[in-house]
Amino acid sequence: MISKKMLDALNKQINAEMYSSYLYQSMSAWLSWKNLNGFAKWFAVQAREETKHAMKFYDYIYDQLGRVTLAAIDAPPADFASVKNIAAKQLEHEKKVTGMINNLVKLAREEKDYATEIFLQWFVTEQVEEEKNAEEIILKLEMLGDKGQALYLLDKEMGKRE
Ligand code: FEO
Repeated sequence: MISKKMLDALNKQINAEMYSSYLYQSMSAWLSWKNLNGFAKWFAVQAREETKHAMKFYDYIYDQLGRVTLAAIDAPPADFASVKNIAAKQLEHEKKVTGMINNLVKLAREEKDYATEIFLQWFVTEQVEEEKNAEEIILKLEMLGDKGQALYLLDKEMGKRE
């Protein structure tokens, strides 16, 4: 069993992960609108990953005989200045999520909830990957440029994500 405080925090994280999914799907929608279909696919896959993250918390709560309560998901932004702007926003958002995960680990330690602390280790590692992926997109856009042929080729590469 987990404490009420821990349970509430885990339920909140379900909402945060669903917001991440919504945010990346919104980015994907904007990218499709701009005919950047490779980038759009990459962000749509990322959105699905975020739903899976939410479900990991969901399943863990029931493993601990808790109760899931779902709250409203905030509307994500619909308009973005450019693909570079999307990449920067993604990194900023992932850094925020890393902070949330770290706070959950801190709470688990305070509560002496070792099972939840171990469960959260997967997310600690995942956030390193998430920030790295976001950084890589920024670096590629900086290296190759975000216009014309360079953007066309990068878009093709991004579309290879399954
Ligand atoms: Fe669920 Fe992108 O972190």
